[in-house]
Parts: sequence; C-alpha cells; structure tokens
Amino acid sequence: MIREKQLTNGFQYVEIENSYAYAKIALQGAHLFHYQVKEKTPLLWLSQAAYFEEGKAIRGGVPICFPWFGKKREDPTLPQHGFARTSLWRVILEEELDDESSHVRLELVSSKETLKLWNYTFKVTLDILVSNQLTMALTTTNTDTKPFELSCALHTYFAISHIEHVSIEGLEGKQYYNNLDGKSYRQEGKIVLKEEVDRVYFEPSKSVTLSDSQKKVTLRHEGSNSVVVWNPWLEKSQKMVDMLDGGYETMVCIESANAGEDARMLKPGERHTLKAMIV
Ligand code: BG6
Repeated sequence: MIREKQLTNGFQYVEIENSYAYAKIALQGAHLFHYQVKEKTPLLWLSQAAYFEEGKAIRGGVPICFPWFGKKREDPTLPQHGFARTSLWRVILEEELDDESSHVRLELVSSKETLKLWNYTFKVTLDILVSNQLTMALTTTNTDTKPFELSCALHTYFAISHIEHVSIEGLEGKQYYNNLDGKSYRQEGKIVLKEEVDRVYFEPSKSVTLSDSQKKVTLRHEGSNSVVVWNPWLEKSQKMVDMLDGGYETMVCIESANAGEDARMLKPGERHTLKAMIV
C-alpha cells in the first residue's frame, strides 16, 4: 500500500507498507525518513528535534546531498550539501511490484530558483525500492548544453544502540580525507568511534558493514567510489538546534557518495547513477 499523506502544516509525504517493511518519504528533499523491516527495529535514525517544515532539511533519515556535497568550493556561502534536500520533488511513479515490494520514483528538475544557485539545467530522479532490503538510486541527467561537475550523497543516518558499541568494516587500509583538519590519512583496522568523526573514504570495498551489539547492517554501493563517515559527537550536536545533546550517541552516518575527488563530470546528455543497497 502506498499512500500520499500530509501533516497539519501541509508537509507532504508518502507512506508505504508492504509485506516486508514500512517507509515514509517526504516530498521535500525526496527524503526517506523512516524505513523499518517488519519485526525489526527502524534502520534509520531520526532526530527527536527534527523539523518537518518547508525550507528546512530533516535531521535524520536519508537527506539527498545534490548537486554538491558539503560546502561548495567556489562559493562556501551557498547552502551546505546543495539545494535538493530543501526543494520540493514530484512523485512520478508509484508501483507495487509482483514480488510485493514497493517502488517510488521522485523527480526534481532545474527551475528559476535552482538556476540562481547553480547555473545548469538538470534532471535528477530518486528511485526507492522498499522490500526486505532498501535500495536507493539517484540518477542525474545533464540536460544543459555545457558540462557540469556533480558531487552528491545518500546521507544515510543509521540508528544504533550506542556509538560505543559499533564498528564499521570495509574501509580498512583505505585513504581518507579528514574534514576536521583538512589532511589525508590511511585507515588502520576497522573504524570504532570515540570522538567526532567527519571523513571521506576513497575506493571503499564493495560492501561496508556496520556492526552493532544488536544488529549488523551491510551497505553496498554502485556508481560510487567514496563513503563518508560522520558523527558530530557532543559539542557539535549541542550547537545543532535540530538535535538533542545526546542524539549523537544513537546515530552514525555512513554515506554512499560521489564526494571530493570522486566528483563526476557530466557532459550534455550524460547520466550518472549513485546507488546504495542496504540490508
Ligand atoms: C556530513 C558532512 O556529511 O554532513 C559534515 O561531512 C556535516 O561536515 C554533516 O557536518 C551534517 O551536515 P548538515 O548540513 O546536515 O548539518
């Protein structure tokens, strides 16, 4: 069952329930903010102080970073992570498949507003497949007459029992750019988090695994050669109005990305798909 719903303030979302799972997708940002396989706990973390309001990104779930990841190098005054997460997308396809999974496709195309921030015409779609695994595919088409550079991410917030109980495997021995000091390092062993972490890993293994005392989640990616690992820790979360002080303890972001040197050049008419499969 796929239903279009809205909050009392008019905030629109799509609610999905099928034999496998539940999901909720906001039209603003094509933002998946709930996904839960039946008889399991929610996969995605959602801040208890998250905004569900026009023009404000939701803290949690899977924000779409597009058409740039992080700060725009040429102009850091532009919105961090681009404008897609605060733009209103359109649902262009809703289907229940024969195997009882559900498929929703949302679309965002360039407009007068987006051209003011990024002077290119484009089309971007997000396909979300809700089954006993979650699949998300972000496909960008350059509809302009000039090439553009694309960086993007499926900024997935995973719900965890406690930050001290998790480890991340699949990035051992990989180079990463540390956003906190602007330097590059090599990852020694699996990742355990003991302080603020904000890193872009390059050439990740085909799958990255998050192990928690209560569960194991595997993330596979296609069309991506970078994975971002982020946790703001206490001090930064205290500064974030849409996150409770202890919020950092129950979340970790592992983001399938085209970030940093993994940005892609798209010529006119070219298309690129960034895909994540999570189980
Ligand atoms: C991460 C970035 O992907 O997103 C961090 O690497 C950033 O630098 C974080 O702080 C959250 O960003 P925002 O804009 O949602 O607060």
